[in-house]
Parts: sequence; C-alpha cells; structure tokens
Amino acid sequence: MELVPPATNAQLRHGAAVVRRPLLTDAAAIHGLVEDSETLDMNSRYLYLLLCRDFALTSRVAEINGEVIGFVTAYIPPDQPNVLFIWQIAVAPSHRGCGVAMRMLTDLLAGLPESQSFTIEATITPSNIASQNVFKSLARRLGCEIRSGDGFNEALFAPEAHEAERMFYIGPLVIGPDKLGVQKKEVKP
Ligand SMILES: CC(C)(COP(=O)(O)OP(=O)(O)OC[C@H]1O[C@@H](n2cnc3c(N)ncnc32)[C@H](O)[C@@H]1OP(=O)(O)O)[C@@H](O)C(=O)NCCC(=O)NCCS
Repeated sequence: MELVPPATNAQLRHGAAVVRRPLLTDAAAIHGLVEDSETLDMNSRYLYLLLCRDFALTSRVAEINGEVIGFVTAYIPPDQPNVLFIWQIAVAPSHRGCGVAMRMLTDLLAGLPESQSFTIEATITPSNIASQNVFKSLARRLGCEIRSGDGFNEALFAPEAHEAERMFYIGPLVIGPDKLGVQKKEVKP
C-alpha cells in the first residue's frame, strides 16, 4: 500500500487542502473534529448527517489526502433569506494557523447567490479569542465592519453550565462576480 505523507504546514499555506461541500460520508469525520476541538458543543451524529444532507450548499469541509481536517457549517434561516448564520467551524489542531478556516469561509461565501445582500451572523463565547479573530479577519478581508450584540445568555442554557454566546454581525455585503476574491459591495441595510 502506498503511504501518503501528511501535508506540511508550508503545503497547507500553498493550498494543499481541498475545500468542498460536505457529503453524507463526511458526517462522522465532522463529529470527530467537534469532539477533538474541546470548545465546540457536541451534537449527535444524526444532526451532522442532516447538516451534510440539507445544508451542504452553505457548509464546507477541507480535506488533505482524503482526510477531513476542517469543516464549517452554516445555513440561511428560512425566515431570514438575507442572513447567513455560521454555526460551527473547526480545524484539526495539527492544521491550525495555516489559513484553513479562512479558506473554507471564503469558499462558502463565494458559493452564495450573486447580487444578493447578506449579513453574516455567528455566535462566539467571550473566551474564544481564536474564533473572534477569525471573524474579525474575515470582516477585514470583506472590508466590512464587525459588530456584536446580545446572543444567548448563560440562563438560556440551563441547567447546563455554558458561557454566554455573543452575536456577531458582518455586513451587509453582496458577493460580486470575482468569486475567488469574494469581492463585495457595501449595501444599505
Ligand atoms: C478557530 C479555528 C477554527 C481557527 O482555524 P485556523 O485554520 O487556525 O484559522 P486561520 O489560520 O484561517 O486564521 C484566520 C485568522 O484567525 C486568526 N487566528 C486563528 N487562530 C488564532 C488563535 N489561536 N489566536 C489568535 N488568532 C487566531 C489568524 O491569525 C488569522 O487572522 P489574520 O488573517 O489576521 O492573520 C481553530 O482554532 C479551531 O478549530 N478552534 C477550535 C474550534 C472553535 O473554537 N471554533 C470556533 C467556534 S464555532
């Protein structure tokens, strides 16, 4: 059997990771990444199957040599067609800091319908600096402001002890024709 060496960080920086829409067969790997993340809320395998089936258009996985090393799940709320809610994002610890999260996010945005205005929403706990920096960096790349407001307070998670989740907003923005560059135009809210 031919052994495929793991990608180095340098390879990753040069785009060795393939970013694509998730398939049903990715649900177990996504579940495993959540388990390894130590920060994300764990959901059932069934839930990740549903996400891979019903929200594949707005979700992405990153894989290297056939191994899923990152994912992002998002959806457009049925009653808010101009919102993209980014739900969970994780990259395997060994592949962090190489731009994988940003590549998945920009690929996801590039796949949104053109000429439609979107506001990106995501909730982040105050202690998750890495995640806050990912979204700040995304806002910078898009040339948009990022602002935050109340999300889900601790009491809403009772009886589970859970840090509050702040809601972050980026946009509104419109994805332009240069999909790779994820160009956008500011639009009035
Ligand atoms: C958050 C996470 C997805 C980032 O993935 P990543 O592939 O390492 O992120 P990237 O390399 O694409 O970095 C994107 C930006 O975030 C910043 N960033 C990433 N990790 C960071 C960290 N630990 N501390 C500070 N900044 C960080 C990067 O510097 C970069 O900013 P820049 O463009 O200004 O240089 C990853 O750390 C992770 O899986 N964490 C555990 C799960 C989690 O907490 N998910 C978020 C909550 S849903």
